[in-house]
Amino acid sequence: MSQVTNKVAVNAPAHVKQQKLIQWVADIAAITKPASIFWCDGSQEEYDLLCAQMVASGTMKKLNQEKRPNSYLACSDPSDVARVEDCTYICSAQKEHAGPTNNWMEPAEMRARLAGLFDGCMQGRTMYVIPFSMGPLGSPIAHIGVELSDSPYVAVNMRIMTRMGKAVYDVLGTDGEFVPCVHTVAAPLAAGQADVAWPCNATKYIVHYPETREIWSYGSGYGGNALLGKKCFALRIASNMGRDQGWLAEHMLILGVESPAGKKHYVAAAFPSACGKTNFAMLIPPAALDGWKVTTIGDDIAWIKPGADGRLYAINPEAGYFGVAPGTNTATNFNCMASLTENTIFTNVALTDDGDVWWEGMSKQAPDHLIDWQGKDWTPAIARETGRKAAHPNARFTVAATQNPVIDSAWDDPAGVPISSFIFGGRRSTTVPLVTEARNWVEGVYMAATMGSETTAAAVGQQGVVRRDPFAMLPFMGYNMSDYFQHWLNIGKKIAASPAELPKIYCVNWFRTDDEGKFVWPGYSDNMRVLKWIVERVEGQVAGTENIFGITPKFSDLSWNGLEFTQEQFNTITSIDKDAWLAELKLHSELFEKLAYHLPSELNTVKTQLEKRLSA
Ligand code: GTP
Ligand code: SPV
Ligand code: MN
Repeated sequence: MSQVTNKVAVNAPAHVKQQKLIQWVADIAAITKPASIFWCDGSQEEYDLLCAQMVASGTMKKLNQEKRPNSYLACSDPSDVARVEDCTYICSAQKEHAGPTNNWMEPAEMRARLAGLFDGCMQGRTMYVIPFSMGPLGSPIAHIGVELSDSPYVAVNMRIMTRMGKAVYDVLGTDGEFVPCVHTVAAPLAAGQADVAWPCNATKYIVHYPETREIWSYGSGYGGNALLGKKCFALRIASNMGRDQGWLAEHMLILGVESPAGKKHYVAAAFPSACGKTNFAMLIPPAALDGWKVTTIGDDIAWIKPGADGRLYAINPEAGYFGVAPGTNTATNFNCMASLTENTIFTNVALTDDGDVWWEGMSKQAPDHLIDWQGKDWTPAIARETGRKAAHPNARFTVAATQNPVIDSAWDDPAGVPISSFIFGGRRSTTVPLVTEARNWVEGVYMAATMGSETTAAAVGQQGVVRRDPFAMLPFMGYNMSDYFQHWLNIGKKIAASPAELPKIYCVNWFRTDDEGKFVWPGYSDNMRVLKWIVERVEGQVAGTENIFGITPKFSDLSWNGLEFTQEQFNTITSIDKDAWLAELKLHSELFEKLAYHLPSELNTVKTQLEKRLSA
């Protein structure tokens, strides 16, 4: 590696007046030693230029302009395809503050380790300065971050996923607060060394310092590892801000649902990664359920704050969707497909012979020939023989929220929207029924805290194994999980003491399977039938039956217009198998043992009540 001796020129543009920020950029450049610094302004010209450069360098392909205008395909290194939970750290001053669900290392030790790794890590590359706002610019709920990254792919994705660009500096004023985010693909280039299409490093670190609100990401260019506004900032760092300031940062979609009578509710729902948030947020109600409408506020993250009236108000801190491609098609998610017709970045999907994209589940019949996400020839016959997928199971699209045909008119409202119910749902092929309403806030917190889900391709590691994923936040919690449960209980107490009504809490499961492993519940649009029951429960318009775990609908409490679904099928996805639940409660006990430090006693009380009901 040739030593770079000349210090890179920082050259802050005239519109950047924050000395502290400029000094920080200079300091990071002195450590990482990039060949040049590029200050992003967020303009379309800049986006087009960076994309053109990535096309020239082989990182992206421009798709057929007629079929998919202004859209690109990027294919990653096969070793860099998802979040890396094993390499993700919460480096709080004290270990207990990170809690037993997080990897932890002493901040000083981690800093020493990263100092060695970041030294010269950007050599031969450009360092992009990416200013962004999570939430509407200038909103009292929004927060600002600046990401320094040596990946132009990150720069263009951040422009779609956040409010990125020049205007952020105006909001910052002379010395406004921002979350400093440093990202490197960790693939320095020696003089004359040719680059690869997707630079990355086998060593990866995704590090958070909650006390100083810093993020340092090393070695990956993919998704939540690299687009630091998303999981690193908007969940792990923001959950710390929320605990200190009395609000919630959640892995939740937010949707608006309007009844035929014109009554509108906003609902927030937490499902683990690749368990249906984007699809639920954009769902099209079945035509036979006359007059219901669903609109999207957000598809992945919610920041939720108590308002002056005691109600909880939610914003979507993001400005785009980084959504799962496989399984998405016009039948199951027409709105999503309509969002992706242009101005989209696809990552790790397959390329068709006419320069468009394809992924498993996009159409019933696969094209005769494709170039798969690894650049290899792919045909249905090859797939049958080898099992090789055309698209990686965690292949994604990046698209602006404004391209969603059912974007809610309030999606950009700095005040947020009032939440009238919370839904939690895992991916469970057995045990957990279609829908259950918690009898009260504490029971709802218990349901969310003990939620289990089968792991998916969104994270590196084994897939399809059930693990506890409290609040769908296991990989995203920035502090001690038990303290977070307490925070939720405290929020409930605060609302209960206000004139506002407590939101109701629900647990759903779209994923129960039959003896052949097929999903019994049709899902997607038909989830509206469950959402309708939920909204009507909130309105006090529909019955439910109390059982061991909470309140559930009878077959006749749901609307079945336009769907052939028998009472018998309903029974298979709502039945409660006592043995399975006894085993499930053992897993709850294991979780609570693990989380014993600071675990709110109310949750153990709920568990004891459930155990009693179950053995009665
Ligand atoms: P992240 O972006 O990783 O947080 O995922 P997500 O929660 O937004 O999940 P998404 O909506 O992208 O769905 C993930 C996968 O689950 C896709 O392949 C969907 O087709 C599938 N899926 C979504 N909703 C349903 C449903 O109601 N039933 C079934 N069977 N599959 C679904
Ligand atoms: C998730 O894994 O929950 C995602 C994708 O939404 S990523 O941005 O990679 O975190
Ligand atoms: Mn997610």
